[in-house]
Amino acid sequence: MTERCIRVALAGVGSCASSFVQAVVLSRSAEQDMPGLMHHRIGGYRLGDVEFVAAFDVDHRKVGIDLAEAIDTAPTVAVRHVAVPPMGLKVGAGPLLDGVEGKLSKIVEPHPDCGSVTASMVTAALRDAEADVLVCFLPTGARAAVQMYARACAEAGAAFVNATPEPVANCPELAALFLERGVPLLGDDLRSHLGATTLHTALIELLGSRGVRIADTYQLNVGGNMDFYNLSDPARSHSKQLSKRRALASTGLDATDVAAGPNGYVKYLGDRKVCFLRIEAEGMLGSPLSMEIRLEVEDSPNAAAVVANAVRVARSAADQRLSGVVDPVCAFLFKSPPLGMPESEALRCFQTFVEKSAAPAPAALAHTT
Ligand SMILES: NC(=O)c1ccc[n+]([C@@H]2O[C@H](COP(=O)([O-])OP(=O)(O)OC[C@H]3O[C@@H](n4cnc5c(N)ncnc54)[C@H](O)[C@@H]3O)[C@@H](O)[C@H]2O)c1
Repeated sequence: MTERCIRVALAGVGSCASSFVQAVVLSRSAEQDMPGLMHHRIGGYRLGDVEFVAAFDVDHRKVGIDLAEAIDTAPTVAVRHVAVPPMGLKVGAGPLLDGVEGKLSKIVEPHPDCGSVTASMVTAALRDAEADVLVCFLPTGARAAVQMYARACAEAGAAFVNATPEPVANCPELAALFLERGVPLLGDDLRSHLGATTLHTALIELLGSRGVRIADTYQLNVGGNMDFYNLSDPARSHSKQLSKRRALASTGLDATDVAAGPNGYVKYLGDRKVCFLRIEAEGMLGSPLSMEIRLEVEDSPNAAAVVANAVRVARSAADQRLSGVVDPVCAFLFKSPPLGMPESEALRCFQTFVEKSAAPAPAALAHTT
């Protein structure tokens, strides 16, 4: 462990966690800047300063094994780009709650220990591990479980990064709890680094800046990872639909009826995600303009690039004694921040935060007891 490390805990060891762990391992040996990494340092921290100190899951195939092995264990489909050596950290059982309800329950058999783990045991584990930040990679729709990890973090003094669309930064009670406990909170719902939402909102902003009027638009997404499998269950996808519409509405567009969402699970795509995006608009004299774009990305590394920013921002916010929702960065990093902004403004606020936090970071954080 280095003096300037960021002690990171993971809740949910699926595809996004796999790509993030690989990115951290790669950054420790990468001599040149990695593609997709926006900043070599944030708050004085390199990505390679991340140390994994705790990991929770519920899947009987992942609990009890080393994190390096768990990130490669089915049903995770993230592509292995980097060899990850044993990390000396075993995945622990988390409380199940609503973690694998619906279709997920057909393919994830919970580990028997999950039934006896309580929220206060998670808090104690985070304190014992002296976690600075927890990244919540739980399945969409698992609201009770996501909010349980958030409360455990606030109690343990660990900053919370909510990759899911379940409300945490958007839950007034939880936002107030983080503020009261002096702990940073980042969320909700990761905005993939260069994904459908980022491209869509940037194009809407471009058209708007030219006075071109958007008449209609859609954004249809298919993919073959567990996130898409889970989202193909209508009972689990509601928060994701709302989150995508909120992101589009932050551009000033009336997104109430816009079709924008997860639109199907196509198993053979694995971790590839395909977005079909169409915009119909009116220019001068009502002249028609339309565009149709097909964007194909590898889904999980696209999330890892954002988390590479988010964990360093979270630790830097803690160094600066910021608490509650860190608004100046959330609009850039998340689809559903409490304070939404157009793409260019969100980028400007994020870059300003990073520039201001460039001073060397203190060696250690005080953890709540
Ligand atoms: N892939 C992306 O680019 C992207 C972008 C934005 C948001 N997200 C969100 O990130 C989250 C994670 O995505 P993923 O692709 O890694 O999903 P995943 O299904 O691959 O992983 C989820 C993991 O959580 C575990 N889990 C379920 N209940 C749990 C509990 N109670 N405690 C601990 N672990 C539990 C599962 O066993 C699984 O290992 C999803 O909510 C997704 O919508 C992903």
